[in-house]
Amino acid sequence: MCGIVGYIGDKNAYPILIQGLQRLEYRGYDSAGVAIYNGSLTVHKCKGRVADLERHIADKDISGCIGIGHTRWATHGEPNDRNAHPHTSMNGNFVLVHNGIIENYAELKADLKKNGITFQSDTDTEVLVNLIEYFYQKGEEVNAEIAVRLALSKVVGAYGIAVICKNEKDQIIVARKGSPLVIGIGHGEYFIASDATPIVSYTNSVIYLNDNDVAIITKDSLTLKTVENTPVAFKITKVDMTIGDLEKGDFEHFMLKEIFEQPKTIEDTFRGRISPDRTEIVLGGLMDVFPKLVNARRIIIIGCGTSWHAALVGEYLIEEYARIPVEVEYASEFRYRNPILSAEDVVIAISQSGETADTLAALRMAKENGATILGICNVVGSSIARETDGGVYTHAGVEIGVASTKAFTAQVTVMTLLALKLAKERGKISSEVYLNLIQELSEIPGKVKSILVKHPHIKSVAAKYKDASNALYLGRGCLFPVALEGALKLKEISYMHAEGYAAGEMKHGPIALVDDNLPVVVVAAKDHYYEKIVSNIQEVKARKGNIIAVVTEGDDGLKGMVNDLFEIPKSHPVVTPLLAIIPLQLFSYYIAVMRGCDVDQPRNLAKSVTVE
Ligand code: AGP
Repeated sequence: MCGIVGYIGDKNAYPILIQGLQRLEYRGYDSAGVAIYNGSLTVHKCKGRVADLERHIADKDISGCIGIGHTRWATHGEPNDRNAHPHTSMNGNFVLVHNGIIENYAELKADLKKNGITFQSDTDTEVLVNLIEYFYQKGEEVNAEIAVRLALSKVVGAYGIAVICKNEKDQIIVARKGSPLVIGIGHGEYFIASDATPIVSYTNSVIYLNDNDVAIITKDSLTLKTVENTPVAFKITKVDMTIGDLEKGDFEHFMLKEIFEQPKTIEDTFRGRISPDRTEIVLGGLMDVFPKLVNARRIIIIGCGTSWHAALVGEYLIEEYARIPVEVEYASEFRYRNPILSAEDVVIAISQSGETADTLAALRMAKENGATILGICNVVGSSIARETDGGVYTHAGVEIGVASTKAFTAQVTVMTLLALKLAKERGKISSEVYLNLIQELSEIPGKVKSILVKHPHIKSVAAKYKDASNALYLGRGCLFPVALEGALKLKEISYMHAEGYAAGEMKHGPIALVDDNLPVVVVAAKDHYYEKIVSNIQEVKARKGNIIAVVTEGDDGLKGMVNDLFEIPKSHPVVTPLLAIIPLQLFSYYIAVMRGCDVDQPRNLAKSVTVE
């Protein structure tokens, strides 16, 4: 949440900062701002998006080769000009941008007020910048770096920060705890950002900061140390990302581009993990911990939002095929509920960003309690990926649309590979079934393509239901999480209220909602729950609900029973979730566009939820 950028070098900082903020806008878009040093420190900031900031700055002098910038997702204080970052200390010695939350800000603020410090905003960030200035002015031997470290040693909470000191203007100081920060290494210049997306236009050599790191950056040097002043050796990583990955190309929205990328991203996720002769699944990142997994007393999968839905698919598949007990937990609940864990438990975190605060905290808690911890992440080098004992990258590529689409299908692909691999290793499925299921998985990209070409039909169905106020999504078995995910997609981008339910639960409450105004989306592909879900369809039909069904091609039986249908190719139930979600993603997308919503940046949301 919130994106921060910085530049120090010989180029004009402003265009680099603005382009960086545009790339990071998915992390928050309540307000934006930049601070540029050019003889003095100038701050420009305003409520709204990065485009509003550009308009706000249009007639101002923004020259200067050192600068920092911010795009905000509000935590403390409403989104307005005053609360926008960068924040300046009372006497103007420091400007600072911050991603995270200073949890003890109220206490620190009270102490600073007692020392005569006054505040302009409602933010925790302004407390931090004033705390830095307080230490800076208090001690004779205290330079900017020491002041930053002293202030951070008093802070409880999470931060990724970039700071400029007016009197030590040839440097930017950055620090990280809990919120990601990446430094790009150029020739005589450095780039700073919350993730690598703003940096790859200039360099693919980056350093990912670890928690408790502080970096002092001039245009020619980088010094890394801890908050406690212990030197830290840094590791340079090569980022594998292209500019094309960060642009919409011919698509109207990133979400649509990402939906259409899925044949490739699913293939990228299993390619290299299925042997060329399609006889073996190889998960290199799990090699060292595989015996633990195979013999796990229990697997607990944690995640949030869409990633939690992918975890649920994993639960169905692993229990069904590998016969290992699996529990799926919301990371936000798991971390606080004192769960019983032991060294025989394996905890798997699923996270697109690899930075979700609750998932990361839950994982750390599991590790402290002796469990083996694994990660299924999309962002290479992310915190979860780095802190786990092993894992599998999803290879979905950069996902920019706030609504997760290709990341979900990549996560489900990994869950499928894992379930099959465990099943084979534990002798729970025959070689014949194993080979058949690998074959089924390898046919998925082609089948996804065949659904995507039907987008005009999905669009026409969306047009019929775009004005509804509520929608109900039903599914059973592995398709229940698909119903949950379909409902989440609709509500988050179109603001239409939608509920996902296990179809068998419908008669325990939600059926009361059914009338001739309610669209009921039923995921009714052919599997061994099929007869049951047909009964649920009948129950909705009897109450005049409008049924939109996801059905297997050739299932003519349902045609007369439902109002609209989305056909998906015939497939084995183990891979059907990968197909069934595709029409639901497109359905949500078209409804949101028709309702005039901001599809890629829905209100109140942020892509990477790095605060609790
Ligand atoms: C879904 O479309 C959202 N983007 C959201 O639910 C997301 O899946 C959740 O915040 C978890 O994010 P993560 O996968 O990066 O951990």
